[in-house]
Amino acid sequence: MASVGMSFSSVAAARPTPSLASSPSCSNNKPFASLHATRSLETSRAPLRLEISYDRWFSAELRQKPSAASRSGPVVAATEPEPLKIMISGAPASGKGTQCELIKKKYGLVHIAAGDLLRAEIGSGTENGKRAKEYMEKGMLVPSEIVVMMVKERLLQPDAQEKGWLLDGYPRSLSQATALEDLRIRPDLFILLDVSEAILIERVVGRRLDPVTGKIYHLKYFPPENEEIAARLTQRFDDTEEKVKLRLETHHQNVEDVLSTYKDVICKVNGDAPIEDVFAEIDKALSSILEKKSRTDSASMAAGMSC
Ligand code: AP5
Repeated sequence: MASVGMSFSSVAAARPTPSLASSPSCSNNKPFASLHATRSLETSRAPLRLEISYDRWFSAELRQKPSAASRSGPVVAATEPEPLKIMISGAPASGKGTQCELIKKKYGLVHIAAGDLLRAEIGSGTENGKRAKEYMEKGMLVPSEIVVMMVKERLLQPDAQEKGWLLDGYPRSLSQATALEDLRIRPDLFILLDVSEAILIERVVGRRLDPVTGKIYHLKYFPPENEEIAARLTQRFDDTEEKVKLRLETHHQNVEDVLSTYKDVICKVNGDAPIEDVFAEIDKALSSILEKKSRTDSASMAAGMSC
């Protein structure tokens, strides 16, 4: 069970009180989430804190808002379409991060990148970060006990539940996929960027990052806009030809297991194409899902989607 504490105002803004107060329940009548308001007894000026305990998964029921009819008579719940839940996968440097930026901009999803969470942990100098770096330097997967909890907690944050999520580079192994399945966390679509190996190596060695804006550049395919940006670009510690070969090996060892978990919702996209063409294909698939979501009920959604 993950627990998130936040200020009253941010919760109120994120989720209207009536729907939170309506004690959502799942089919076995156990509450999915409970809400507690607490205030420190020492001082009445301490901010009111709300603690939301998430039990397994926010169900669609959390999104049900009372309709006009339900306020005055019989309980008829009008259900908002659930936000998009997307996974994006592909070999190292296949363009996941680049496409995520474009998807986020258009669809407003919360971008959760396992690699970024790990690099943030390394940057903070934590024990988990130190351990993770040892694996990342060898191009190996970071052990699940570090990654699974990290991603799960981020996924269960209210912003990801409200706006929908875009999971980048996760899951990467059968055990990670199974951990999500156990929590009933499944994507509407699993995008697989398919890129030929020679191109991947060129993309890795030419990649540069802007530490100020977080933007991803490529010295040849997507150069910085001006000299000022060019001067501050950095390179990732694992972006060498030698390390990318190890990362590719790890990818090939694990990818089939992950694909088999999501075979009913896979959308394979040609990632060799220019950035805007790759995005056009993804955009088409996402728009079609949104359209289906707005006119179908959960039963037909369960039939699965792909492109
Ligand atoms: P992570 O950070 O996820 O790295 P990765 O999977 O190797 O992917 P990259 O971030 O390198 O590439 P990308 O696909 O995002 O490409 P980008 O858009 O930047 O993981 C790093 C490490 O963390 C792993 O090796 C592992 O150790 C650990 N880790 C991560 N997740 C884990 C997990 N779930 N479990 C355990 N360990 C985990 O593009 C690359 C370059 O190409 C850029 O320069 C870009 O401008 C350019 N480009 C992009 N698209 C195009 C295009 N269409 N045409 C031309 N150029 C393009």
